Amino acid sequence: MPKIVWSKRYRVNVKKLDKQHLHIAELVNAVNDKIKARADSKEIVKGFTELIDFTKSHFETEEALMKKLDYPDRKRHRKEHKELVNLLSDVRKQFKREAKALGDFDYDVAKDWLAIHSDWFSVHLVHSDKDFGAFLNTKGID
Ligand SMILES: [Fe+2]
Ligand SMILES: [Fe+2]
Repeated sequence: MPKIVWSKRYRVNVKKLDKQHLHIAELVNAVNDKIKARADSKEIVKGFTELIDFTKSHFETEEALMKKLDYPDRKRHRKEHKELVNLLSDVRKQFKREAKALGDFDYDVAKDWLAIHSDWFSVHLVHSDKDFGAFLNTKGID
């Protein structure tokens, strides 16, 4: 999987959210490097756990803002978040199982899961999060 190269196209023009999105991209890249280096499975699971936990807390940040400002597209946006959270909790379970079964860790599967997160993140970011960012800007938040 190619590295996520941060660029203007990912900016939603709200400082706090841009900072968090950048951190998610860094965490994705870190896991990607570990997979490429065929790092120990425990290290990879650790990287995924960090990524999953931070992604969840980032969603909470966005959803709290949506609630506070009564964002009109809140329901649909939250549904998108929920889909990724459900997917990620399955991934975490699977990795924990594999990490326990020594020698049974599948790097290709790890690579596929990471690519799913990475694609989802990019698409959600340039569509849903950008719309939300534009809404926040109209409320004087940048
Ligand atoms: Fe986001
Ligand atoms: Fe979002």
